[in-house]
Amino acid sequence: MRYKQLCIIRLRFFALKINFAYVLITFEGIDGCGKTTQIKMLQQRLVKEKLPVEVLREPGGTDLSEMIRSILLNPDVHMSPVTELMLFSAARSELVSARVLPLLKERVVVILDRFYDSTVAYQGFGRGSLPISEINKLNEIAGHQLEPDITFFIDVDVDLALNRRASSGRGPDRIEIAGQAFYERVRDGFTYLASQKERFVRIDGAQSIDKIHQQVWMKVSSMIWQ
Ligand code: ADP
Ligand code: TYD
Repeated sequence: MRYKQLCIIRLRFFALKINFAYVLITFEGIDGCGKTTQIKMLQQRLVKEKLPVEVLREPGGTDLSEMIRSILLNPDVHMSPVTELMLFSAARSELVSARVLPLLKERVVVILDRFYDSTVAYQGFGRGSLPISEINKLNEIAGHQLEPDITFFIDVDVDLALNRRASSGRGPDRIEIAGQAFYERVRDGFTYLASQKERFVRIDGAQSIDKIHQQVWMKVSSMIWQ
């Protein structure tokens, strides 16, 4: 029995290596959509399957990127929309070169809590900092031309997300104080991306936590093991 299990695990590793140069999974959606909850569940599931997995968040994941994060989220700091865009990009470039690329090279499954799609949605649609075509160019540079294998867009309506955030008891950060209309534009941004990119999987985030996890796991397991 133990031997059989070992064989299955080894076969799965083999399949993973054959099918993929790397496995990069991203989660997107407005604040309070349920990303962090789903990422933890997916991580636990992958660990159970004996796959090497690392979760990183954006902005963050390195000392420098975490320092940039604390500036970006500080409600007392004022900055222009273009400065904000540049800071998110700087934090990303550092995270990708220092952590994501080396991990992927080691065949570790990387789960990112947000990636450059958030920049299109928040800085592009939300803030209107630069035209989307310009933001795409910047994303290519800061993302070191990396493309996720699959992107889960946990979609909830803005009222539900804001209620969930409010009941967490944590005060709003610099991005969250932008308000309802801003979040409607950000959600439109993710909806637009989901209509354009094949790697996007939109999931109704108003469903139960377990139901969402089942849908995420179905996609991830079929992607990894086909
Ligand atoms: P995010 O990381 O997208 O901001 P979280 O995963 O931290 O969202 O969830 C925000 C809050 O909503 C948490 O209190 C969490 O327990 C709750 N939550 C997450 N997913 C669901 C869900 N599907 N149904 C009900 N509550 C949820
Ligand atoms: P996150 O850690 O996901 O916040 P939360 O746990 O509250 O959902 O993201 C931090 C904030 O930064 C969030 O409001 C989204 C915003 N953000 C951007 O505006 N642009 C970006 O490119 C990224 C990655 C995040």
